[in-house]
Amino acid sequence: DYGSDGHAHFMHKEIAEQPDSVRRVLKGRLDERFHTVRLGGLEMDARELREFRRVKILGCGSAYYAGQAGAQFIEEVARIPADAEPASEFRYRNPVIEKDTLYVAVSQSGETYDTLVAVQELKRKGGRVIGLVNAVGSSIARECDGGVYLHAGPEVAVASTKALTNMLVGFALLGLHLGRIRDVSPADGRRLITALQALPEQIERILADEDHLAAVAKDLAQAPSLFFVGRTRGFPVAREGAQKLKEISYRHAEAYQTSELKHGPLALVGPELPTVAIVPDDELLERNLGALQEITARSGPLVVVTHDGVDLGVVPAHVIAVPKSEPELDPLLLTIPLQLLAYHAALTLGHDVDKPRNLAKSVTVE
Ligand code: AGP
Repeated sequence: DYGSDGHAHFMHKEIAEQPDSVRRVLKGRLDERFHTVRLGGLEMDARELREFRRVKILGCGSAYYAGQAGAQFIEEVARIPADAEPASEFRYRNPVIEKDTLYVAVSQSGETYDTLVAVQELKRKGGRVIGLVNAVGSSIARECDGGVYLHAGPEVAVASTKALTNMLVGFALLGLHLGRIRDVSPADGRRLITALQALPEQIERILADEDHLAAVAKDLAQAPSLFFVGRTRGFPVAREGAQKLKEISYRHAEAYQTSELKHGPLALVGPELPTVAIVPDDELLERNLGALQEITARSGPLVVVTHDGVDLGVVPAHVIAVPKSEPELDPLLLTIPLQLLAYHAALTLGHDVDKPRNLAKSVTVE
């Protein structure tokens, strides 16, 4: 214990803090009377925000994966075309900067050089860019035209957990706000607000399953190589799960869209290569179960991250079930167990969980 409040590692402390850090990012921002969201830091009024025809999200690493989930939320809920791109790529490819695109820079540290330079390039060319940033007063926060602070509190472990979760909440707040000044109904606003309010307690329930998750992680840590698969809302979850495992356990993990398995990666599936499959209880459940059968037919070991009450039928798997939320918010709760899988896999292998080799907490260089 070195300043981590009785937790063996900062990463563990930060995972455990999530119910509180989610409460903080929601605090004062939900308007239950008008079923909408108040984002005072945006510095753009409804008339200006209604002009945007596209949303483009820029971030690096896990922040980029959060951006991918955020883009899906915004497009699905607010019905504005949205996508995410690594800021590290965007800044080098001379992209067309559009006046009616809302650019969003997302960063825990607010100091990631690639993201900062992307913001500066956008501003030089007249782009409107807001920040979804955790560190108050950081370079990216100062450079943006307003934004949404994530209030996750200081994050010390190199592997991001609570900041990433608050990024997902931040995008939900932004998407709901953009939606409620367009076509989203009060009833849909209320449905999503109720779901947001339920998150802290639902996260507590997932964290209470830690012993089970540790046992599954011990098993997974034996495999030199793993697949993480998910589709649509589940795909950024799979990417983040693979990234977290790679960062701290040094195991090779690769994320695919479940729908792409049969277009190539299935060739590798067999008894030696476990797959962690993200299978929410959504409109694609039947299709996902079909993909699991393909894996089982090739004797691929399976860990299925799904919702309470889902019946996998005859598919043999370690099952990790999370509480149900509203479908648009699924990525958030499905990501939490993957943090603990990565943490316990790294512990099993005896690695320095908080300071993995070759990585820095914030990449402030070219
Ligand atoms: C997260 O686990 C990683 N260490 C890394 O991908 C990180 O998310 C990325 O470097 C971006 O950092 P930022 O959020 O501080 O900009």
